[in-house]
Amino acid sequence: MTTFDHHERERWAGRAEAYTRSFGRLCAYPAQALLDAAQVAAGARVLDVGTGPGTVAALAAARGAAVTAVDAEASMIVWARALRAEGRFARAALPLLPFATGAFDAAVANFVINHVGDPRAAVTELRRVVRPGGQVAVTIWPHPLPPLQRLWRQAYEAAGGPPRLDLPQVAAERNFDRTPEGLTGLLRGAGLDAVRCETLSWVHRTDPEQWWAGPEAGIGQLGLLLDGAPADLRRRSRDAYDRLTDRYRGPDGQLGLPTAALVAAGRTR
Ligand SMILES: C[S@@+](CC[C@H](N)C(=O)[O-])C[C@H]1O[C@@H](n2cnc3c(N)ncnc32)[C@H](O)[C@@H]1O
Repeated sequence: MTTFDHHERERWAGRAEAYTRSFGRLCAYPAQALLDAAQVAAGARVLDVGTGPGTVAALAAARGAAVTAVDAEASMIVWARALRAEGRFARAALPLLPFATGAFDAAVANFVINHVGDPRAAVTELRRVVRPGGQVAVTIWPHPLPPLQRLWRQAYEAAGGPPRLDLPQVAAERNFDRTPEGLTGLLRGAGLDAVRCETLSWVHRTDPEQWWAGPEAGIGQLGLLLDGAPADLRRRSRDAYDRLTDRYRGPDGQLGLPTAALVAAGRTR
């Protein structure tokens, strides 16, 4: 495991419920497009890696697929088992999965390879566990960041938060551009063929309090930036969040935040 992976384990520890109630709803949006990209249909053996609360796993099961789902974080597995009637859930982490080579028809990872320290090793492992002629499909957030994702750092900086040079990054030699070209290059480099990528854009509708509850519980970029921050910086960040989201607030008080995701897939040899 890289330093970044160790850091990620700490970030997710015990946060299944907070994630499910906040960012989990956002991450659910591209799930069907991800399963389409992976060509998931009835009878397919599907592996959902980094399943979180099991959203993608449940949708694959609803298509009639035989689903196995894993996550590095124990609380996610407990939560997914409690929420989902179907599917086998177990704890396992990229880049080493406890499955035989070619054991699945498709492997999917919804917003997971943006949380690993060695993205190419992670996608190579997803490819390994899929039989020749199967599909590997992944999603990530694009760069430049859409307004929803930009919001967190904007709120932190508007609140006068100090620069955080201490935050772990994926090592430059292992990183990839979070663009369609960067992501398709990553998948090709991991040995996948017929690689394609689409950009999904949508407006995420959410209650402002519920949306703030994510960072407040340590989830996402602002959650990370505010971890251990003094109370007055947290309060100023919340004030900045209210100001910055004002323009996205509808007459019903709900936020409509523009966002986008990259959905990419490739065929195994
Ligand atoms: C943004 S959440 C996405 C969860 C889920 N796929 C969804 O659509 O809601 C990222 C998930 O990846 C898991 N994760 C992070 N690093 C991982 C790794 N190396 N292997 C497997 N899961 C990992 C986290 O525990 C978390 O549940």
